[in-house]
Amino acid sequence: MSAERPVVLIGPMGAGKTAVGKRLATKLGLPFRDTDEAIVAAHGPIEAIFAEHGEPWFREREAEAVAEALAAGGVIAPGGGAVLHDGTAAGLREHDAVVVLLEVDRETVAARLVGGRRPLLAGGGIAEWERIMEARRPRYAEVATLRIDTSGRSVEAIVAELVGRL
Ligand code: S3P
Repeated sequence: MSAERPVVLIGPMGAGKTAVGKRLATKLGLPFRDTDEAIVAAHGPIEAIFAEHGEPWFREREAEAVAEALAAGGVIAPGGGAVLHDGTAAGLREHDAVVVLLEVDRETVAARLVGGRRPLLAGGGIAEWERIMEARRPRYAEVATLRIDTSGRSVEAIVAELVGRL
């Protein structure tokens, strides 16, 4: 793998993008960039952003955060909906990113999803997750250059397989 190609982990909420990304970055000796974290640092909690500004505003800030991360390089974990933005999808191609789709089944997600960082799931829980996943599946498939199943697997096991396939 070329050191200059950014590695971008995509997939739905609960797929393990942040946990896998951190570990993978350590293994590869590359910086790790979490765009949710960058957005929170700049604009405050995600649930407050959704409540005050709405989802479209969040998506614009997210697209900016992904563009900055792509320019800086390393291992990048955008939020699960980032690739819906056409600018982000184009940015991935422009930077020749290795785009890894972390796939996951509903049982694994149900066990992983905790906390208030996911306003999109506030009302509907796992059923809402499934609905969102179905709607995004074609987009994930379109932008991914590599796929890995994370269902029921440890971060360590996922990263070990990933390192071998990059
Ligand atoms: C979202 C995923 C979240 C966060 C926001 C919206 C989404 O990030 O960006 O709640 O639309 O899928 P994670 O995928 O890291 O949970």
